[in-house]
Amino acid sequence: MTIRAEARPTATADRRAREEALVQRVVRSFDACSDPRLQELVTALVRHLHAFVREVGLTEAEWGVAVDFLARCGRITDEHRQEFILLSDVLGVSMQTVTVNDEAVGGATESTVFGPFFVEGSPRIEIGGDISGGAPGEPCWVDGAVRDIAGEPVAGARVEVWEADGDGFYDVQYPDARVAGRAHLFTGDDGGFGFWAVTPTPYPIPADGPVGELLSAVGRSPMRAAHLHFMVTAPGFRRLVTHIFVDGDEHVGRDSVFGEQASLVKRFVRHEASEPVPAGRDLGGLPWSSSRFDIVLAPEPG
Ligand code: BEZ
Ligand code: FE
Repeated sequence: MTIRAEARPTATADRRAREEALVQRVVRSFDACSDPRLQELVTALVRHLHAFVREVGLTEAEWGVAVDFLARCGRITDEHRQEFILLSDVLGVSMQTVTVNDEAVGGATESTVFGPFFVEGSPRIEIGGDISGGAPGEPCWVDGAVRDIAGEPVAGARVEVWEADGDGFYDVQYPDARVAGRAHLFTGDDGGFGFWAVTPTPYPIPADGPVGELLSAVGRSPMRAAHLHFMVTAPGFRRLVTHIFVDGDEHVGRDSVFGEQASLVKRFVRHEASEPVPAGRDLGGLPWSSSRFDIVLAPEPG
């Protein structure tokens, strides 16, 4: 992907007027739209796209490169891979959409990007169980409690958890159909939960397509900061989609999809094999880590 700098001819007043007239004509072409929200979306899109073209003096050759890039994003997209979401992620649009919709409510836990690796129908585990499904990695005990904004426990909340293994791969990237590194459990009467996982590890987003090409053209890393995904649902509460990140991970602060929020960076404590292990698990003499994540759910709006 090569974009060459070319001097933009200085816009004359006459040309600026023609540019502006074109923007207005295109915006007015949606006047008859009967869906006000659709009309708002498309007219704002037109105004912003035209402002971009005019600001940078986009050449026809550059527009051709962009169209070819989008066409290649389309060609690589299938039921297992969504290059457009990846593009939205690396441009920060996914995270901006989360931010715009994540009204801060009474100390509720912050949201972050969903990512492409959630799978419906994960195995159910009991509190104290193991989500790893035999995935490689250092054992990690994660516990916490789910509460409402008044501090009352939320019993029976569904806690979905998914993560990459210690080599940086999700089970959906394995060559076979194994299910690993994902499960769901329900909070107890005290809102508490606890499970075994593997210590989160940094991994690259899929970088072998047009989005990876864009990242390397601009000298950006495809690495995601180490994280563990959560989706927490309970009747009467807003669905929470979030991650926890690992304090001290060198990729925190330069996550390739801008997903970090300071409140979600958690301490992961390292434990020697000799220390007592939670939930009576036999780790066969391996060291392990632990982290705590207390979750506050916002009430459903309305
Ligand atoms: C993930 O967290 O799994 C992810 C998010 C955005 C892009 C790629 C991966
Ligand atoms: Fe992830």
